[in-house]
Amino acid sequence: MGSGHTTQASRLRTALPEGAFEIVDEVVEANRRFAGERVTFVQGDICQGGLPPADVCLVRQVLQHLPNDDILRALPHLASYRYVVVTEPLPVAMTAPNADKPLGPGIRARRGSGVVLHEPPFGWPVGTSLLRIPANRAGTQVLETTVYEPATADRPEFTWDDLEAPLAGQLPGPA
Ligand SMILES: C[S@@+](CC[C@H](N)C(=O)[O-])C[C@H]1O[C@@H](n2cnc3c(N)ncnc32)[C@H](O)[C@@H]1O
Repeated sequence: MGSGHTTQASRLRTALPEGAFEIVDEVVEANRRFAGERVTFVQGDICQGGLPPADVCLVRQVLQHLPNDDILRALPHLASYRYVVVTEPLPVAMTAPNADKPLGPGIRARRGSGVVLHEPPFGWPVGTSLLRIPANRAGTQVLETTVYEPATADRPEFTWDDLEAPLAGQLPGPA
């Protein structure tokens, strides 16, 4: 989501033969010409939906640009994926998460904040941190990649009984 320009598309072309979703028409057109047929590029706004179906969705340095209201509109659409891998810049010394901002190029990290989806006003389940790397030379920001399973909050907790009950009678018995 928010695939960006062709450098990202070239990585997608070799790494992930799936889809890419981007709001800027010109970027989508350029990516289509560059990437060929293996990646499907879709133009759209993650706040409005129309996201292509998949098991895993990557959202790298996109939410950082959006006001909280736009993120709140995007989250139900992102929650249709089993796994949502979010990469966002965070200040090492966080003043408060999810400080609001206007739409545009500025990011929250410069004001001591960053997007944290398990904190208010977003309320996703806590994700698993996959990677945390320095994001600037001054060492004041990190780029954190977190995998979320947004639907887990609505799912009943899995137990082994759930698995064994439907399989009863189908498994080979003792010899
Ligand atoms: C900082 S770039 C990141 C590009 C790419 N994900 C990467 O990591 O290299 C942010 C991208 O998100 C796109 N974007 C911003 N708001 C969007 C929205 N509401 N829906 C879809 N794409 C959006 C921008 O046009 C831009 O291409």
